[in-house]
Amino acid sequence: MRRKLVVGNWKMNGNLHQLAEIAEIAAAAKAAAGVDVALCPPFTLIAPAVARSNGLAIGAQDVHPAESGAHTGAVSAAMLKEVHAQLVIVGHSERRAEAGETDAQVRAKAEAALARGLQTIVCVGESEAEREAGRHVDVVTGQVKGSLPDDGHEGEMVVAYEPIWAIGTGKVATPADVAEMHAAIRGALRERLGERGGRIRILYGGSVKADNAAELFAVPDVDGALVGGASLTAAQFVPIVEAAARH
Ligand code: PGA
Repeated sequence: MRRKLVVGNWKMNGNLHQLAEIAEIAAAAKAAAGVDVALCPPFTLIAPAVARSNGLAIGAQDVHPAESGAHTGAVSAAMLKEVHAQLVIVGHSERRAEAGETDAQVRAKAEAALARGLQTIVCVGESEAEREAGRHVDVVTGQVKGSLPDDGHEGEMVVAYEPIWAIGTGKVATPADVAEMHAAIRGALRERLGERGGRIRILYGGSVKADNAAELFAVPDVDGALVGGASLTAAQFVPIVEAAARH
């Protein structure tokens, strides 16, 4: 039995003033039984967010594979642990597109994060052109194979399926599209990792909102959500957490 997990990704949004939202989200997360909740603000807000988190897991949106060294602008897993981050998102499509991250780089980041005991959310997802060409399942299962570490790590690994065309667009994948892809990802995980592949949580991401969350959580192999825009305020995020708690 996999517990639902709902993760907010603030992307490059938020300031110290908006931390009041985190306190409100933390209170609601505590009240929602049977669901894990986490929030990933920008690096600058991790430490102050942890101070207000009241047990809510706080994480980062990226990590460098190396421990330390000459990597201007980067942050390591050890640094994240020092400020009590508990998780990290790697391979988000915005990073794959903007920073040109490859599957191999995403895998190296995931390995470093897991080795440090951070829960690690590895993102995968196809473009609209790839879906139109009927290549979506091959693209995504290929990313799963290329981006995920094998095993032997301390942290928990999670996969997030985020069709690029559904991110920030208001276009949500249909339950049938999501079911097809989550089943394919589950198959790839089992093939690759054996029995452990059945325990890894698979999140859906892409325009998840209060009004579509319940329908998505009802799809087999949807173990939660990675939420962008609707995680910025407690008013929008808390109903998604509550929908997860009802499943
Ligand atoms: P969205 O973003 O919910 O704003 O579509 C999801 C994500 O990119 O994680």
